[in-house]
Amino acid sequence: MVLKLRNKILLVIIAIFLVIQLPVFRPAKNFTDAEPVNDISKAYDVPMDIQMLLYDGCYSCHSNYTEKYFWYSNIQPVSWWMASHIRNAKKELNFSEFATYSPTRALKKFKEIEEEMQKKSMPLKSYTLTHKDARYSDQDYKDVMDWAVTMQKELTQKKETPLAPE
Ligand code: HEC
Repeated sequence: MVLKLRNKILLVIIAIFLVIQLPVFRPAKNFTDAEPVNDISKAYDVPMDIQMLLYDGCYSCHSNYTEKYFWYSNIQPVSWWMASHIRNAKKELNFSEFATYSPTRALKKFKEIEEEMQKKSMPLKSYTLTHKDARYSDQDYKDVMDWAVTMQKELTQKKETPLAPE
């Protein structure tokens, strides 16, 4: 039986798709059992309502623990795409490591959070499409933005009046 070229190409695509489903091609999940000892809340004042907004909207990508993986996150290449999102997001901002940031870096990150909330560019659209609980209302954006502004003020004040050495 001679296959048409189109069918051959289709078969090759299906074969590649099946091969990349092998476990070796599946990236590690963003999970950890470790206590989040360096979570942002350990070093900064995070009111409960803000913490909930961050959990729902940001922690899936910006922390060491992605809670909500859907079934399709086990399918390559979706899993690759998600893993690279999480990797890039954590490089920029990791709430699980935030307590280790220097005051200068923390200040910069609070500024960036303020900007992202103003532009409403986070949480990523591709994420809120499938995660309804991560969708922010106008009030949510404002609350997180106001909090980020307050944190910048606090940090700046601390820098200007350093604690006396003990
Ligand atoms: C679906 C994954 C995802 C979610 C959810 C998400 N982010 Fe991001 N975020 C990213 C990625 C990827 C980057 C780095 C690349 C980029 O800038 O797009 C990023 C970058 C950032 C940056 C750095 C931007 C800069 O100036 O370079 C900030 C700040 C940020 N995110 C804040 C947030 C906040 C706050 C939330 C929750 C309200 C959130 N993100 C939710 C994926 C996500």
